Amino acid sequence: MNEIETAPSGEWQDVAARDQLDPDFPLGVEVNGQPIGLYLLGDQVHAIEDVCPHAEALLSQGFVENGVVECPLHGAQFDIATGKCLVEIGERDVRCFPVRVVDGRVSIKIVPV
Ligand code: FES
Repeated sequence: MNEIETAPSGEWQDVAARDQLDPDFPLGVEVNGQPIGLYLLGDQVHAIEDVCPHAEALLSQGFVENGVVECPLHGAQFDIATGKCLVEIGERDVRCFPVRVVDGRVSIKIVPV
């Protein structure tokens, strides 16, 4: 997992090069202590909370298919674009974070809840 230097919450935070992203292999990063998974779906980059609500496995180490990530530990599934929990064992939806890609760099914004 890449640890990213901290930035004030609510500001765009550079997290990765767009070229680092692979549709089959999410990239886990940590921003301000928050583990986040970066996913490439088509041309779109998505960022979702990376810790599974069930038992804290990293979703970015899971299996990705058809816009859904499956937790590597017990099989919870989450919609990557919306964070929606699709299998009850996942317990709740995961947070999604705003993403922008500028000049080949991916930035996300962590908005306080
Ligand atoms: S830790 Fe993800 S389903 Fe159990």
